[in-house]
This record gives sequence, C-alpha cells and structure tokens, in this order.
Amino acid sequence: MHTELILIDKDNPDLALLEQGASILRKGGLVAFPTETVYGLGANGLDERAVRNIYQAKGRPSDNPLILHIADIREVPKLAAEIPANAKVLMETFWPGPLTVILKRTKAVPDVVTGGLDSVAIRLPSAAVARELIALAGVPVAAPSANTSGRPSPTNAADVLHDLKGKIEAVVDGGPCDIGVESTVVDCTTPVPTILRPGGITLEQLVEVLGEVELDKALLGANTVPRAPGMKYTHYAPVAPMTLLEGRYEFIRAALPQRAAEALALGQRVGALVSEETLPLLPSGVVAMSYGSRKRPEEIAANLYTALRFFDDKNVDLIWGEGIPEDGIGLAVMNRMRKAAGQRIVKEEKFGD
Ligand code: TXA
Ligand code: MG
Repeated sequence: MHTELILIDKDNPDLALLEQGASILRKGGLVAFPTETVYGLGANGLDERAVRNIYQAKGRPSDNPLILHIADIREVPKLAAEIPANAKVLMETFWPGPLTVILKRTKAVPDVVTGGLDSVAIRLPSAAVARELIALAGVPVAAPSANTSGRPSPTNAADVLHDLKGKIEAVVDGGPCDIGVESTVVDCTTPVPTILRPGGITLEQLVEVLGEVELDKALLGANTVPRAPGMKYTHYAPVAPMTLLEGRYEFIRAALPQRAAEALALGQRVGALVSEETLPLLPSGVVAMSYGSRKRPEEIAANLYTALRFFDDKNVDLIWGEGIPEDGIGLAVMNRMRKAAGQRIVKEEKFGD
C-alpha cells in the first residue's frame, strides 16, 4: 500500500488538505495524525472493520481497547451512558487537552473499540490539526499511538513512517508534538476517579480540581494487573535493553558514568540516555543522547521517545538510562522509562550493598 504524506502547517491548518485525510477516514482507511501528546493512528471509531485494521497495522493485542477522539464535548452523551459529576468537571477543566476519561459506554460504541469492556475511553485533543481532522471526518476517531505495538510512541511523522509506512493510507505531518508523552487516562467509573496512566495532565492538576484522586495500584509498583489493559504490556522499549538508574541526583551523577565505564571495560558497546547535566560526565566511547535539562522536565517529556528511538540504529549492547524526580510531568516520564526498562531498574538504596 502507498502511504500518502500530507504536509500541514500546525499553527494554521489548511482545511482542504486535511479533508483528504478526513475523506480517507470516512471511507474506512487509516490515517496517522499529530495530537498535542503523540501521533495517533486514526480510523472511523464506528466502523468495526476499519478499527480492526488498526490492530492489524500496529500488531496490537485485541484485548487492548482504544481511545475515541472527538472534536466537540457534545459528542460525549452519544458514547457514554453515564457522566458522573466529577467526570464533567474534568472534561470542562482539561478539555481540549491531554486527558482521557473512562466512562460507562453506550451501545453506539463497537466492541472492537473497547476490547469487550463495558466502558469507553474518550478524549478531546487540543492540537488544532487533530481537532479539525476529527471535525471534518464527522465521526469519533479511534486512535492509539501510531507506533508498532511495544515500540516508543512517535512524536514526529518520520517515526510514524518508520513503523507504519506501507501499512496505512496516509500520515498527516504537522511537525513534532508539543507534550511528547500520552494523555493521562482517568477512570471515572469508580467513586473516586483513578489514574490508570499518568500523562500530560499532572496528578497535581487533578488533585487541585478534584480534591481526591487515586493512582491505580499497578502504578505504585504493586503486583496487580493494571486496569488499563495497555499498561500490562512491555512498552516504549528501545531495541537494546535499557537499565534505569533511580535516586537522588548526587547518586545518579556518580553511578551512571561509573556503570557505563565498567561496561566499556568489559568490551560492551554502551548507550546512555541522560540529562544535559550528566552528558559531560560520561566516559568517552559511550554512545550518548541527552533528553534535555533536569531543570525542565517538560523538555524531557517532549524529547523522551525520539531519544529512545535514537539508539535503534546505533548497534549498542545496552543502555543506561537516567531517572528524574516524579513531580509534575516527571510522573509520566518515569512511568514510560520504567516500562522501557522492563524490570531492569537500579535504585539508590540497593546500590553498593
Ligand atoms: O495521548 C494519547 O492518549 C494518544 C493520542 C494518540 O491521543 N493515544 C494513546 O492511545 O496513547 P493508546 O491506545 O496507545 O493508549 C490508550 C490507553 C491504553 O493503555 C488502554 O489500555 C487504555 O488507554 N484504555 C482504553 N480504553 C480503556 C478502557 N475502556 N478502560 C481502561 N483502559 C482503557
Ligand atoms: Mg500506545
């Protein structure tokens, strides 16, 4: 299949160009498009066959439900059977924006979208390209991140093409995404709303508005099955195994260069995914990539997935990754880095004993 590239100015989207993408969506095709978080792989969310093709193109397990993207909050009652008061507050406060709410679904939502669950994930993105495309399509757009399942999410069109070229009808190229990590997924079917996946809207922002929010136990390191089915899979992983160093910066700035030097001494090809601050401390010979400054966690979020993908063609045997504090967007960054690292995490308190 030929994958059409549709170039769009994200600050001033040309509707005639976006209509090309919208028309493909209406006909049941797959179109990748930029949102403020990451690129999504869109299909008409009411067309079962089209949605099934999303799973096919991504190689995604079919029990992992999709988010329906809408362009207008008035679409919600068509998709959600119940809208609790706190869900309404969340939508009114954070939409358009990087927040996904889980609500009880209506019969209008096909089973293939929800993986058979009785709830549905809904999001109204803030990126103008995404909103205009969805509005032109005139249907809710089912869209997971536009990566091959298990890989880091794409935050630019080149990364989408790398994974999906030849498998989808079109990519709308609106340049790099602003936020760089996915939306926060909040389950509003529980009495106290529960964060199933940390993301672009921070825990602090949610607490400020709701007073009380829970974190899914699986996010706290408990050995339970996550309630967002997608959170149970290995994810965001670079090709080479990454080990994450977590702890105070005094620990990391000494331990990371030391671990890298030890691996080099064993003849290994070593990658390091680190902050701007740590970069000059690394021994020479390390294939290093900075994700930005520890002083600007938003910058780290925006660069994270491209930085993880950087190592793919570098032929390294292993990667050392630098952890950051979990405040604000740092919670989402560390959630993704831990998943990218699988179980390979070295914590400060265990170091040296
Ligand atoms: O920022 C984002 O949310 C991006 C952009 C494209 O909008 N989309 C995205 O979709 O990250 P995806 O499919 O990669 O992640 C959706 C997450 C998965 O962890 C999935 O399991 C969870 O949301 N999810 C979807 N429907 C759910 C439901 N009914 N109940 C619980 N979790 C659900
Ligand atoms: Mg994803």
